[in-house]
Amino acid sequence: MKQKYIVGNWKMTLNKKDSLKLAEDIRSIEKKDNVSIEIAPTYLYLQDIIEILIDTDVSVISQNFDYESLGSFTGGISLTQLEEIGLSKTILGHSERRSKFNESNEMVDKKLEIVLNSNFDVIYCFDSYEQIPFDLIKNNLNSNSKLTLAYEPTWAIGTGETASVEHIVEIHSKVSSTLESLNIKDIPILYGGSVNPANSNQIIHANNVDGVLVGGASTNFDQLTGIINSI
Ligand code: 13P
Repeated sequence: MKQKYIVGNWKMTLNKKDSLKLAEDIRSIEKKDNVSIEIAPTYLYLQDIIEILIDTDVSVISQNFDYESLGSFTGGISLTQLEEIGLSKTILGHSERRSKFNESNEMVDKKLEIVLNSNFDVIYCFDSYEQIPFDLIKNNLNSNSKLTLAYEPTWAIGTGETASVEHIVEIHSKVSSTLESLNIKDIPILYGGSVNPANSNQIIHANNVDGVLVGGASTNFDQLTGIINSI
């Protein structure tokens, strides 16, 4: 089986007690061959959760970052700070960052350029084919930073309304053939938007789908394991 990715984005939905309890529960998840499990807790609990999951196969990643290195940016978080506590991968451009925190396409793409030129891996979220900066990717991709793309249609996020498998395959295939035409290889493409244990198997095994980026269901242990076991 091809490598599959299950990424849990906990957003800002869990308090400290529930975050740490869920991380403790996740310790019992048994690694499956060719399945990579990653979770993105809120910044505040990253350090604690890294320590809880240190000797497991579950990776901890960041939900976002602001700048590359240290500086006078009140409230910001830099890649170097994330690296210092043991992280090496981040989500970027989630539609909630774009719509609720006013991160413009220009800001997100500037950060994509930064992260592609760092030693951090990145999951770049897009909600339409047109949003993907293919030229920027082509010009900045290098072997130090691994890029993953995640198709997350805004209308499917947190609504219980999953995109149809046909629609997901159509978008993923379009992205995949553009990458191929640019001679860009080995970019996993994830789908996100109301993924749950009942629909995950069909989505994960669809053509040109390499995994799922899960919000709500990843914050519930039974649902998360249901998704993992559905593969
Ligand atoms: P839901 O799974 O809650 O729809 O959220 C998807 C998402 O935004 C993951 O990044």
